[in-house]
Amino acid sequence: MNVLGIESSCDDTAVAIVKDGHKVLHSTISSQLVHKSFGGVVPEIAAREHLKAISALTSACFKDVGFGPENIDLVCVTSGPGLIGSLLVGATFAKGFALSSGIPLIPVNHVRAHVHGALLAFDPKEVQFPSLALVVSGGHTHLYRMDNAISYTLLAHSVDDACGECFDKVAKLLGLGYPGGPIVEERAKNGSPDRFPMPKLINDSSKMFFSYSGLKTHIVNTLRKSPIQSDKDIDDICASFQVEAFSHIIRKVKSAINSNRDIKSVVVSGGVSANQKFKELVSENISVPVFFPPLRFCSDNAAMVASLGYYLYNQPDYKIPAIDSWDVFSGYKYEE
Ligand code: KG4
Ligand code: ZN
Repeated sequence: MNVLGIESSCDDTAVAIVKDGHKVLHSTISSQLVHKSFGGVVPEIAAREHLKAISALTSACFKDVGFGPENIDLVCVTSGPGLIGSLLVGATFAKGFALSSGIPLIPVNHVRAHVHGALLAFDPKEVQFPSLALVVSGGHTHLYRMDNAISYTLLAHSVDDACGECFDKVAKLLGLGYPGGPIVEERAKNGSPDRFPMPKLINDSSKMFFSYSGLKTHIVNTLRKSPIQSDKDIDDICASFQVEAFSHIIRKVKSAINSNRDIKSVVVSGGVSANQKFKELVSENISVPVFFPPLRFCSDNAAMVASLGYYLYNQPDYKIPAIDSWDVFSGYKYEE
């Protein structure tokens, strides 16, 4: 079954064709560099950039696979959470494609789809369920229990900033540019993680949520007390910040494993999972096998959307939502 995936929830326009849920025939991403000069994503510009990119990306996708829309069996599109204007471009394009081709269309939750970005690299039988699925991105820090590839039970999420968002904000405070995650990682490589003591975030294991605003405020206060004097100061702050940002996540994953004793694996996904230090710390500290996405499926992409959509569609009791019955959404209304 060939599935066309469309993703436009933030500042990446992405199109993919995935066969049978995990064979990626084509996956392309167009990232909107225009936002760099604003230090963050400008929603209105993002929507307009999607509109400019989406048709050409889809044509290029078909050219690359060597067949046309008549060989697509299902269209899947991100319906949220995300920026409304951006989502509307992808959803409207996908609706037009599905209606004109006479094929079914299903809406897919972006955060849940990230997990399939990690699962895509593995034989579906390789990843043992029940699993804990961690989505660590610019908009979300979510921890799910998954009993199979489509059953998501939310165990913890951030009550304020997401982990990636915190990297972006700390990078901005240090004058390092946007997006901050990869720059902070690079600077941290030369830094000492012990030089600037960081607060242990939500250290109480009974509290199952993430919170990053305290760490960000701590960095603001540190910079007030001891303004940056040298490149070495920046490297050391980045290294110290990064270790606590990740330790917070690892503590919550360990707590979840303690209270879900049947967990057989952990699947990590989202833009932050590109971070090498994060991979090392998770692998060293978690007692069950851990699966990470290949780099190209860490950040936003459409293959993950096509993959989750395939598994949803192929459930025996799945009812395709009527094309006009669902709407795009920015928040968590589909996360019970
Ligand atoms: O998953 P993603 O592409 O988009 C969202 O759904 O948000 O994640 C983007 C986030 C940004 O906050 C970016 O700074 C962060 O992922 N990120 C990283 C790294 N690469 C990207 N954070 C830490 N280390 C990295 N290497
Ligand atoms: Zn994302």
